[in-house]
Amino acid sequence: MSIPNYSNLYKAIAVRHSTRAYNGMPLAEDHLQAMRRACAERLELAKGARVILAPGPADRVFTGLAIKGVPAFLAMVGDTAAPHIEEAAGYLGEYVVLTAASSGLSTCWVSATFRPEEAAKSVNLEPAEKIFAVSPLGYEGQAWLVETFFNTMVSKSRTRKPLEELLSADSMPLSSSPRWARVALEAARLAPSAYNRQPWRFTIGPNSIRVSIDPESREVKGAPKQMDCGMAMMHLEIGALAAGVTGEWEFLDTPDVAVFTVGS
Ligand SMILES: Cc1cc2nc3c(=O)[nH]c(=O)nc-3n(C[C@H](O)[C@H](O)[C@H](O)COP(=O)(O)O)c2cc1C
Repeated sequence: MSIPNYSNLYKAIAVRHSTRAYNGMPLAEDHLQAMRRACAERLELAKGARVILAPGPADRVFTGLAIKGVPAFLAMVGDTAAPHIEEAAGYLGEYVVLTAASSGLSTCWVSATFRPEEAAKSVNLEPAEKIFAVSPLGYEGQAWLVETFFNTMVSKSRTRKPLEELLSADSMPLSSSPRWARVALEAARLAPSAYNRQPWRFTIGPNSIRVSIDPESREVKGAPKQMDCGMAMMHLEIGALAAGVTGEWEFLDTPDVAVFTVGS
Protein backbone atom coordinates (compact mmCIF):
# COMPACT_ATOMS: atom_id res chain seq x y z
CA MET A 1 0.00 0.00 0.00
CA SER A 2 1.24 3.45 -0.89
CA ILE A 3 1.58 6.42 1.49
CA PRO A 4 -1.42 8.75 1.05
CA ASN A 5 -0.50 12.18 -0.31
CA TYR A 6 3.17 11.19 -0.67
CA SER A 7 4.13 13.90 -3.18
CA ASN A 8 3.13 16.68 -0.75
CA LEU A 9 4.86 14.83 2.08
CA TYR A 10 8.02 14.56 -0.04
CA LYS A 11 8.06 18.38 -0.39
CA ALA A 12 7.39 18.70 3.34
CA ILE A 13 10.56 16.72 4.17
CA ALA A 14 12.65 19.68 3.02
CA VAL A 15 10.80 22.23 5.18
CA ARG A 16 9.95 20.26 8.36
CA HIS A 17 12.04 21.25 11.33
CA SER A 18 11.60 21.13 15.08
CA THR A 19 9.81 24.23 16.36
CA ARG A 20 9.83 25.10 20.04
CA ALA A 21 8.32 28.61 19.99
CA TYR A 22 4.64 28.89 19.03
CA ASN A 23 2.48 32.00 18.63
CA GLY A 24 -0.43 30.70 20.76
CA MET A 25 -3.06 30.96 17.97
CA PRO A 26 -5.67 28.15 18.08
CA LEU A 27 -5.68 25.76 15.15
CA ALA A 28 -7.84 26.83 12.18
CA GLU A 29 -10.78 24.52 11.41
CA ASP A 30 -9.32 23.32 8.08
CA HIS A 31 -6.02 22.50 9.80
CA LEU A 32 -7.87 20.59 12.53
CA GLN A 33 -9.71 18.59 9.88
CA ALA A 34 -6.53 17.80 7.94
CA MET A 35 -4.87 16.60 11.13
CA ARG A 36 -7.90 14.54 12.18
CA ARG A 37 -7.81 12.82 8.77
CA ALA A 38 -4.07 12.11 9.08
CA CYS A 39 -4.54 10.67 12.59
CA ALA A 40 -7.35 8.42 11.34
CA GLU A 41 -5.15 6.94 8.58
CA ARG A 42 -4.28 3.29 9.24
CA LEU A 43 -0.97 2.34 7.66
CA GLU A 44 -0.36 -1.38 7.15
CA LEU A 45 3.13 -1.32 8.65
CA ALA A 46 2.12 0.58 11.80
CA LYS A 47 -0.09 -2.03 13.46
CA GLY A 48 -0.54 -1.30 17.17
CA ALA A 49 0.43 2.37 16.82
CA ARG A 50 -1.83 5.38 16.67
CA VAL A 51 -1.47 9.14 16.82
CA ILE A 52 -3.97 11.10 18.89
CA LEU A 53 -4.71 14.76 18.26
CA ALA A 54 -5.41 16.63 21.50
CA PRO A 55 -6.71 20.13 20.75
CA GLY A 56 -6.66 22.88 23.39
CA PRO A 57 -3.88 24.82 25.13
CA ALA A 58 -1.09 22.36 25.85
CA ASP A 59 1.79 24.25 27.47
CA ARG A 60 1.27 22.21 30.68
CA VAL A 61 2.21 19.05 28.76
CA PHE A 62 5.72 20.37 28.11
CA THR A 63 8.31 20.90 30.82
CA GLY A 64 10.60 23.79 31.45
CA LEU A 65 10.97 26.84 29.31
CA ALA A 66 11.73 25.06 26.09
CA ILE A 67 8.31 24.76 24.45
CA LYS A 68 5.66 27.49 24.81
CA GLY A 69 2.49 28.90 23.22
CA VAL A 70 1.17 25.48 22.13
CA PRO A 71 -2.50 25.32 20.97
CA ALA A 72 -2.66 21.52 20.56
CA PHE A 73 -0.48 18.45 20.77
CA LEU A 74 -0.06 15.04 19.18
CA ALA A 75 0.47 11.90 21.24
CA MET A 76 2.36 9.04 19.56
CA VAL A 77 0.84 6.01 21.23
CA GLY A 78 1.59 2.29 20.90
CA ASP A 79 0.42 -1.07 22.17
CA THR A 80 3.45 -2.26 24.14
CA ALA A 81 2.59 -5.91 23.35
CA ALA A 82 2.69 -5.41 19.56
CA PRO A 83 5.86 -6.48 17.71
CA HIS A 84 8.10 -3.71 16.34
CA ILE A 85 5.93 -1.12 18.09
CA GLU A 86 8.75 1.43 18.45
CA GLU A 87 9.44 1.41 14.72
CA ALA A 88 5.68 1.56 14.08
CA ALA A 89 5.24 4.58 16.40
CA GLY A 90 8.10 6.41 14.66
CA TYR A 91 6.84 5.50 11.18
CA LEU A 92 3.21 6.53 11.79
CA GLY A 93 4.11 9.54 13.93
CA GLU A 94 6.38 10.91 11.20
CA TYR A 95 3.57 10.45 8.66
CA VAL A 96 1.39 12.75 10.80
CA VAL A 97 4.26 15.17 11.48
CA LEU A 98 4.98 15.50 7.74
CA THR A 99 1.27 15.98 7.05
CA ALA A 100 1.36 18.85 9.57
CA ALA A 101 4.41 20.35 7.84
CA SER A 102 2.73 20.04 4.44
CA SER A 103 -0.23 22.05 5.81
CA GLY A 104 2.00 24.82 7.22
CA LEU A 105 1.83 23.59 10.82
CA SER A 106 4.83 23.24 13.10
CA THR A 107 5.82 20.32 15.32
CA CYS A 108 8.67 18.95 17.43
CA TRP A 109 9.04 15.30 18.44
CA VAL A 110 9.46 15.28 22.23
CA SER A 111 10.33 12.23 24.32
CA ALA A 112 12.11 13.89 27.25
CA THR A 113 10.86 17.41 27.95
CA PHE A 114 7.20 16.54 28.62
CA ARG A 115 4.96 15.32 31.46
CA PRO A 116 3.47 11.92 30.52
CA GLU A 117 0.82 12.17 33.29
CA GLU A 118 -0.40 15.55 31.93
CA ALA A 119 -0.44 14.23 28.36
CA ALA A 120 -2.36 11.11 29.48
CA LYS A 121 -5.19 13.33 30.82
CA SER A 122 -6.04 14.33 27.24
CA VAL A 123 -5.80 10.89 25.62
CA ASN A 124 -7.76 7.72 26.33
CA LEU A 125 -5.12 5.02 26.60
CA GLU A 126 -5.98 1.32 26.41
CA PRO A 127 -4.45 -0.76 29.26
CA ALA A 128 -1.51 -2.04 27.14
CA GLU A 129 -0.81 1.31 25.50
CA LYS A 130 1.78 3.91 26.37
CA ILE A 131 2.72 7.32 25.06
CA PHE A 132 6.05 6.96 23.27
CA ALA A 133 6.42 10.64 22.48
CA VAL A 134 4.41 13.81 21.99
CA SER A 135 4.66 16.81 19.71
CA PRO A 136 3.39 20.35 20.05
CA LEU A 137 1.19 21.31 17.10
CA GLY A 138 0.65 24.91 16.09
CA TYR A 139 1.98 27.97 14.32
CA GLU A 140 5.59 28.96 14.61
CA GLY A 141 6.24 31.96 16.86
CA GLN A 142 9.27 34.13 17.11
CA ALA A 143 12.44 32.11 17.71
CA TRP A 144 13.84 33.10 21.06
CA LEU A 145 16.93 32.46 23.07
CA VAL A 146 15.97 29.03 24.40
CA GLU A 147 15.07 27.70 20.97
CA THR A 148 18.25 29.10 19.50
CA PHE A 149 20.15 27.36 22.28
CA PHE A 150 18.45 24.02 21.57
CA ASN A 151 19.03 24.34 17.86
CA THR A 152 22.68 25.12 18.04
CA MET A 153 24.14 23.79 21.26
CA VAL A 154 22.07 20.76 22.16
CA SER A 155 20.66 19.25 19.02
CA LYS A 156 22.77 20.75 16.23
CA SER A 157 19.40 20.88 14.57
CA ARG A 158 19.17 20.76 10.79
CA THR A 159 22.68 19.40 10.28
CA ARG A 160 22.93 15.86 9.00
CA LYS A 161 25.71 13.35 8.39
CA PRO A 162 26.73 12.92 4.73
CA LEU A 163 25.13 9.89 3.08
CA GLU A 164 28.50 8.23 2.52
CA GLU A 165 29.00 8.05 6.30
CA LEU A 166 25.64 6.33 6.73
CA LEU A 167 26.34 3.38 4.43
CA SER A 168 27.44 0.08 5.95
CA ALA A 169 30.60 -1.67 4.77
CA ASP A 170 28.68 -4.21 2.65
CA SER A 171 26.54 -1.59 0.89
CA MET A 172 26.62 -1.02 -2.85
CA PRO A 173 28.36 2.37 -3.37
CA LEU A 174 26.14 5.38 -4.00
CA SER A 175 27.77 6.03 -7.38
CA SER A 176 26.55 2.70 -8.79
CA SER A 177 23.16 2.57 -7.02
CA PRO A 178 19.88 3.10 -8.82
CA ARG A 179 18.43 6.61 -8.81
CA TRP A 180 15.45 5.64 -6.64
CA ALA A 181 17.80 4.48 -3.89
CA ARG A 182 19.72 7.75 -3.86
CA VAL A 183 16.50 9.82 -3.76
CA ALA A 184 15.09 7.59 -0.99
CA LEU A 185 18.26 7.84 1.10
CA GLU A 186 18.50 11.62 0.70
CA ALA A 187 14.96 11.75 2.13
CA ALA A 188 15.78 9.26 4.93
CA ARG A 189 18.86 11.25 5.93
CA LEU A 190 16.65 14.27 6.79
CA ALA A 191 14.48 12.38 9.29
CA PRO A 192 14.44 13.77 12.82
CA SER A 193 16.03 11.84 15.68
CA ALA A 194 16.48 12.36 19.42
CA TYR A 195 19.40 14.77 19.92
CA ASN A 196 19.85 14.56 16.17
CA ARG A 197 21.90 11.40 16.75
CA GLN A 198 20.90 9.86 13.37
CA PRO A 199 21.22 6.28 14.65
CA TRP A 200 20.60 4.62 11.29
CA ARG A 201 22.84 2.79 8.86
CA PHE A 202 21.82 1.81 5.33
CA THR A 203 22.84 -1.07 3.10
CA ILE A 204 21.97 -0.65 -0.57
CA GLY A 205 21.38 -3.86 -2.53
CA PRO A 206 20.46 -4.27 -6.22
CA ASN A 207 16.73 -3.80 -5.47
CA SER A 208 16.62 -3.11 -1.75
CA ILE A 209 17.73 -0.89 1.12
CA ARG A 210 18.29 -2.34 4.57
CA VAL A 211 17.97 -0.09 7.63
CA SER A 212 20.07 -1.02 10.67
CA ILE A 213 20.92 0.52 14.02
CA ASP A 214 24.29 2.18 14.49
CA PRO A 215 25.46 0.69 17.82
CA GLU A 216 27.86 3.62 18.34
CA SER A 217 25.10 6.23 18.31
CA ARG A 218 24.11 7.93 21.54
CA GLU A 219 21.64 6.19 23.91
CA VAL A 220 18.78 8.46 25.01
CA LYS A 221 16.51 7.40 27.88
CA GLY A 222 12.90 7.06 26.71
CA ALA A 223 13.79 7.38 23.02
CA PRO A 224 14.59 3.96 21.52
CA LYS A 225 16.73 4.07 18.39
CA GLN A 226 14.10 1.89 16.68
CA MET A 227 11.65 4.80 16.91
CA ASP A 228 14.07 7.14 15.10
CA CYS A 229 14.62 4.39 12.51
CA GLY A 230 10.84 4.18 12.00
CA MET A 231 10.89 7.89 11.07
CA ALA A 232 13.76 7.30 8.64
CA MET A 233 11.72 4.42 7.13
CA MET A 234 8.78 6.76 6.50
CA HIS A 235 11.10 9.29 4.79
CA LEU A 236 12.81 6.53 2.78
CA GLU A 237 9.51 5.14 1.48
CA ILE A 238 8.21 8.62 0.57
CA GLY A 239 11.49 9.29 -1.28
CA ALA A 240 11.19 6.02 -3.21
CA LEU A 241 7.59 6.83 -4.16
CA ALA A 242 8.66 10.32 -5.28
CA ALA A 243 11.26 8.60 -7.51
CA GLY A 244 8.48 6.47 -9.04
CA VAL A 245 9.13 3.23 -7.17
CA THR A 246 6.94 1.22 -4.80
CA GLY A 247 8.26 -1.38 -2.41
CA GLU A 248 7.49 -3.55 0.59
CA TRP A 249 8.95 -3.47 4.10
CA GLU A 250 9.96 -6.54 6.04
CA PHE A 251 11.00 -6.20 9.69
CA LEU A 252 14.33 -7.79 10.71
CA ASP A 253 15.97 -8.78 13.98
CA THR A 254 18.11 -6.30 15.93
CA PRO A 255 20.59 -4.72 15.15
CA ASP A 256 18.90 -4.68 11.74
CA VAL A 257 15.54 -2.93 11.64
CA ALA A 258 13.86 -3.59 8.30
CA VAL A 259 14.50 -4.06 4.60
CA PHE A 260 12.67 -2.20 1.82
CA THR A 261 12.49 -4.24 -1.38
CA VAL A 262 11.24 -2.87 -4.68
CA GLY A 263 9.76 -4.94 -7.51
CA SER A 264 12.59 -6.08 -9.82
C1 LIG B 1 12.27 10.63 19.34
C2 LIG B 1 12.66 12.09 19.44
C3 LIG B 1 12.68 12.69 20.69
C4 LIG B 1 12.98 14.05 20.81
N1 LIG B 1 12.91 14.63 22.07
C5 LIG B 1 13.10 15.97 22.19
C6 LIG B 1 12.92 16.59 23.48
O1 LIG B 1 12.61 15.94 24.47
N2 LIG B 1 13.05 17.95 23.55
C7 LIG B 1 13.36 18.71 22.43
O2 LIG B 1 13.46 19.92 22.55
N3 LIG B 1 13.57 18.13 21.19
C8 LIG B 1 13.42 16.79 21.06
N4 LIG B 1 13.58 16.19 19.81
C9 LIG B 1 13.88 17.00 18.61
C10 LIG B 1 15.28 16.73 18.08
O3 LIG B 1 16.24 17.42 18.86
C11 LIG B 1 15.34 17.16 16.59
O4 LIG B 1 14.44 16.37 15.85
C12 LIG B 1 16.73 16.99 16.00
O5 LIG B 1 17.65 17.83 16.64
C13 LIG B 1 16.76 17.30 14.49
O6 LIG B 1 16.30 18.60 14.25
P1 LIG B 1 15.10 18.89 13.25
O7 LIG B 1 13.91 18.12 13.82
O8 LIG B 1 14.89 20.39 13.29
O9 LIG B 1 15.46 18.38 11.89
C14 LIG B 1 13.30 14.82 19.67
C15 LIG B 1 13.31 14.19 18.41
C16 LIG B 1 12.98 12.85 18.29
C17 LIG B 1 12.94 12.24 16.93
